[in-house]
Amino acid sequence: MQTLRLNANNPEDIQKAAQILREGGLVGMPTETVYGLAANALDGKAVAKIFAAKGRPMDNPLIVHISKFDQLYKLVREVPPEAEKLAQAYWPGPMTMVMPKAGCIPDEVSAGLETVAVRFPSHPAAQALISASGLPLAAPSANLSGRPSPTTAEHVLHDMDGKIEAVLDGGACGVGVESTVVTLATKPPRLLRPGGITLEQLRAVLGEVEMDNAVLKPLAEGVKAASPGMKYKHYSPKANVIIIDSSFEAYKQYVNAHKEAGTAALCYSGEAPELEVPVVCYGREDDYGEQARELFDALRRLDEIHAKTVYARCPEPKGVGLAVYNRLIRAAGFEVLRLE
Ligand code: TXA
Ligand code: MG
Repeated sequence: MQTLRLNANNPEDIQKAAQILREGGLVGMPTETVYGLAANALDGKAVAKIFAAKGRPMDNPLIVHISKFDQLYKLVREVPPEAEKLAQAYWPGPMTMVMPKAGCIPDEVSAGLETVAVRFPSHPAAQALISASGLPLAAPSANLSGRPSPTTAEHVLHDMDGKIEAVLDGGACGVGVESTVVTLATKPPRLLRPGGITLEQLRAVLGEVEMDNAVLKPLAEGVKAASPGMKYKHYSPKANVIIIDSSFEAYKQYVNAHKEAGTAALCYSGEAPELEVPVVCYGREDDYGEQARELFDALRRLDEIHAKTVYARCPEPKGVGLAVYNRLIRAAGFEVLRLE
């Protein structure tokens, strides 16, 4: 299959992409978080193609994207009052809400769960595409399963060229990590995946919000995942990533003492001159938003320089930094080395 390159700023290209979706095809769609791989959410066969293109396990459910709040009523059994409050505050935007699903949601979307995850993205091209298609769109991140999520159309093509009908190029994503996933199907509501909307922001609207154990730790053997996506090794470059939780001084000493062929550093901007190995940066130490924006591209660049062992600076798990930490510990398979 030849993958069409479409331009998100061209209204004709939006129409072309919408037509592909109505015919049951797949389109790489820009959003403010990461690029999604979109299909008609009401067509189980179209949705099944997403799993095939990504190599995604079928037990990992997808997020359904809408471009008007009212679309939500058709997708869920009921809209809980918490959903209205959160939507008022943070939609359109990088937040996904899990609610009891309506009968129209195919099993492929919900992976057999009784719930469905819904998001109203703020990216104008995503909104234009959803509206032009006239459909709710199921869309996971448009990477091969297990790889870092794509934040540019080039990343999408790197993983999906020849496997999908088209990619709609809308430039680089502004947030850079995936949406916050919060379930309203439990009491109190629970944060399943940290993202662009912080835990503090959720609590400011809802009061009590729990944080799922899987946000910071690997799932214990035999425990069922509340958010199936959080159980997989994820976001990984090909290298073995080891997070070093320490001061920069201790990090620098450790990295320079362990330099070998294939060793690289994943660190903050400005730290390169003191390190004696190839360096990839993921933003400034004190700017969590910049870290989020740059992380996935940095993980892909580690592959380009053929890194084999990567020593990573440990993100501060605060604000959007919690999402950065959550992604990086998965890329590292939860390997964290604490140094004095
Ligand atoms: O920002 C985003 O959310 C991006 C863009 C494209 O919108 N999408 C995205 O989708 O990150 P994906 O499939 O890569 O991640 C969806 C996450 C997974 O961890 C999945 O397990 C969880 O949401 N999820 C989906 N439906 C769920 C449900 N019914 N209950 C619990 N978790 C669910
Ligand atoms: Mg994903």
